[in-house]
Amino acid sequence: MAGPKYRSPRGTADILPEEQPYWRFVLETAGTMAELYGYRRIDVPLFESADLYIRGVGEATDIVQKEMYIFADRGGDRMALRPEFTAGVCRAYLQHGMAHWPQPVKLWTAGPVFRYDRPQRGRYRQFHQFNYEAIGELDPWLDAEVIDLAWRFYGRLGLKDLTLELNSIGDGKCRPAYREALRAYYRPLVDRLCPDCRARLERNPLRLLDCKEPTCWALAEAAPRSVDYLCDECREHFAGVQDWLGRYGVPYRLNHRLVRGLDYYTKTVFEIQPPRQGAQAALGGGGRYDGLIEELGGKPTPGVGFATGIERVILELKEQGVALPDRKVPMVFVAYTGEATRLAAAEVVGRVRAAGLIGVHAFGSRSLKAQLRLADGLGADYAVILGEEEYRQGQVVLRDLASGRQETITLEAALNRIRS
Ligand code: HAM
Repeated sequence: MAGPKYRSPRGTADILPEEQPYWRFVLETAGTMAELYGYRRIDVPLFESADLYIRGVGEATDIVQKEMYIFADRGGDRMALRPEFTAGVCRAYLQHGMAHWPQPVKLWTAGPVFRYDRPQRGRYRQFHQFNYEAIGELDPWLDAEVIDLAWRFYGRLGLKDLTLELNSIGDGKCRPAYREALRAYYRPLVDRLCPDCRARLERNPLRLLDCKEPTCWALAEAAPRSVDYLCDECREHFAGVQDWLGRYGVPYRLNHRLVRGLDYYTKTVFEIQPPRQGAQAALGGGGRYDGLIEELGGKPTPGVGFATGIERVILELKEQGVALPDRKVPMVFVAYTGEATRLAAAEVVGRVRAAGLIGVHAFGSRSLKAQLRLADGLGADYAVILGEEEYRQGQVVLRDLASGRQETITLEAALNRIRS
C-alpha cells in the first residue's frame, strides 16, 4: 500500500496530542525546578552565524565536523541551526552586557536543537533540550549546585536508579600535558585503533577515551587519566566540587573516561546515565567552560551548565513506568435533540467553557444517537443533553458517560456537579 506522499524528515518526529502530557510534565517540572534555583528564562534564536558554533563548540568536534545544519541564507551569510544552547546563551551574555548584572547570571531555556546524527532510538536530528547556564562564577560550590539541580530534576520527575558520572579534564594550563601523554600512550597502539580514533589521535586525543568500539574501549581503560595531570588549581577545584556534592547528598561515580563531545569544557564534566542503556545514551550532561566567553570575544569569564534531552527523558519515564500526575479537565459534550435546542447549543457550550470545563458538540445536524457515539469517540466524561421540553423549563439532562447514570437538573447545577 502506498503511504502518504509527504512524511516528516528522517530523524524528526511529530509530537502527537497523546504524547503532549509527557512533554508538559517534563517541561513544567524543568522550568519550576530551574526557577527554584534562581534561574530565569531566556530564549535564543534557532539559528546563528555558523562561526559562533564552530568557535564555541569547537572545530574538531563531531558536531561541527559532521552534524551541523549549515546553510547560506539569501544574503550569502553562513548560518547554522543551533546544535546546542550554550554558545548562543554565552553570545547573548556578551551582547546584552550581562557581565554588569549580579553574578553569576543564571539562565534557563528549552526548545529544539538540530544535529545531523544517525537516527536511532533516543537519537534524532531534531530533538529538544532543557538547558541551563550559570555564568560569571568560579566557585566549585556552583558546579555542585548545577549538578544538584540536574539530579533533583530527574528525581522530581520520578526517575530512579540513575548514575551521575563525574570527571575533571583540567584547563588550558594542564590539559596540553595530558593530551601529550595520551598521544604518547596511543601512538604505539595506533594499528589497533578504529579508523575514527586513528584520525582523531593527533587532533583531539581526549575523544579516544569514549570510543565505543570494543578494541578502543579496552585500550582506553589503561590510558593515562586526566585527574593525574591536573594542575594545583584544577585539582583543588575538583576536590571542592566533590566536597560540595557530599554536602548536597548527591551520589556520584568518578569516570576517568568521561570527556564529553564539546571542546569548550574545562575542569568539571558530568553526565547522567539511565540504568539500562549503553554509555551512548546519556540522559543529560554538562560541565564547566571557563574559556568559552573569552573564545567568543569577551573578557575571561567562567561558566558552568547542563542540558538534558527531553526525548530521552520521556523514553526513560515510559521505560520506568512513571505515572504522570493526573490533571485532566472534564470534557462535556453538549447534545441537541431538535432544531430549537441545536440553535441553543452554542450558548450552552459557551457556558461550559466559561466554567473552565472542556466544551464540545457535534456540528451539522445529527441524530442524538450519532451525537452520543461521537461523545464516546472523543472520550467525553459527561453529556449535557438538551431536550426540547426540559430546555424550555430551564433544565438539562446530565449524563455521566462512564456509569450511564443521568438526572434532570438546571445547567447551573450540572456544571457545579461536574466541577466538584
Ligand atoms: P550534549 O551532551 O551534547 O551537551 O547534549 C545534552 C543532551 O542532549 C544529551 O545528554 C542527550 O540527552 C541529548 N541529545 C544529544 N544529542 C541527541 C540526539 N541526537 N538525539 C536526542 N537527544 C540528544 C550539550 O549540548 C551541552 N550544550 C550541555 C551543556 C550546557 N554544557 C554546559 N552547558
